[in-house]
Amino acid sequence: MSGKILVLGSTGTVGRPLVKALREKGETVKAASRSGGPVDGAEGVIFEFGKLETFDAAFDGVDRAFVLLPGGYTDPKGLLLPVIEAAAARGIKLVLQSAMGVDADDSIPYRQVELALEGAGTPYVILRPNWFADNFHRIWKAAIDHGEIAVPAADGRTSFIDARDIAESAAAALTTSLFDGQIFTLTGPEALSYAQAAALLSDVIGRPIAYRAVDDETFIAMLTGAGLGADYAGFIASIFHPVREGWTAAVTADVETLTGTPPRALRTYAEDHVGKLAG
Ligand SMILES: NC(=O)c1ccc[n+]([C@@H]2O[C@H](COP(=O)([O-])OP(=O)(O)OC[C@H]3O[C@@H](n4cnc5c(N)ncnc54)[C@H](OP(=O)(O)O)[C@@H]3O)[C@@H](O)[C@H]2O)c1
Repeated sequence: MSGKILVLGSTGTVGRPLVKALREKGETVKAASRSGGPVDGAEGVIFEFGKLETFDAAFDGVDRAFVLLPGGYTDPKGLLLPVIEAAAARGIKLVLQSAMGVDADDSIPYRQVELALEGAGTPYVILRPNWFADNFHRIWKAAIDHGEIAVPAADGRTSFIDARDIAESAAAALTTSLFDGQIFTLTGPEALSYAQAAALLSDVIGRPIAYRAVDDETFIAMLTGAGLGADYAGFIASIFHPVREGWTAAVTADVETLTGTPPRALRTYAEDHVGKLAG
């Protein structure tokens, strides 16, 4: 493996720490985004899903790539299948970020993307992270500012994962062939309810944060009221169903298998991001 590593979504939640982790391992990284600017000292390259004319320059000189669907999009097949096809045609190894639980049914679009990758004839690793801890300072930041996280999670528990642990897992998968052909479910070290998570965040940032369980309809109205499209709001609501069912409470050893280090606790995430959470 002597070529460059292409990181899609390199300015995003997982992409940015992944660029950092790969550079720390001495890899040469091409950091992809729509603007194509450099990221943390890595060469930048323009890449846009759905614009096949950007693929050649992005894949040039690359023998491994990290592929994800950026947040806000609801069509994993439409956006990711052309990338898998183009990369496989070039013999590029792919590390795909999918999501925990997509194997519940082969008709789930994300699972269909995974199946396409498994059959593409190029080396691959699939990573299925649980809900990101980082959502608290990204997606739920306005709620935290308001002092109340309102989601349709009931009292379901989630083993929230720190994006740095996803990034470090991806870096391991990209820099050795030991894990090729395997699927890993990435979780944090313990499962917490949203009430417990709110109490923990409250303790770390020193301000009260409550949790209110809401129904899907209320939640979708809140998201669309905050400017999200109806499709994406409905999608976000739908993925709380597994939380209520308790399916996101599972804890795996997969981060440690990949990185050699246990995943970070939610408290560590909160303490390390206290400025962003409280600011
Ligand atoms: N959040 C969770 O709890 C969770 C849990 C499990 C799985 N996941 C999966 O993780 C994915 C999100 O990962 P993430 O949070 O790391 O992503 P993210 O931060 O939302 O990704 C943003 C990155 O994607 C780039 N990007 C956005 N639109 C693009 C386009 N049309 N073409 C090319 N690049 C584009 C952005 O760069 P520019 O804007 O500069 O182009 C930026 O670098 C979700 O879609 C979901 O499938 C999320």
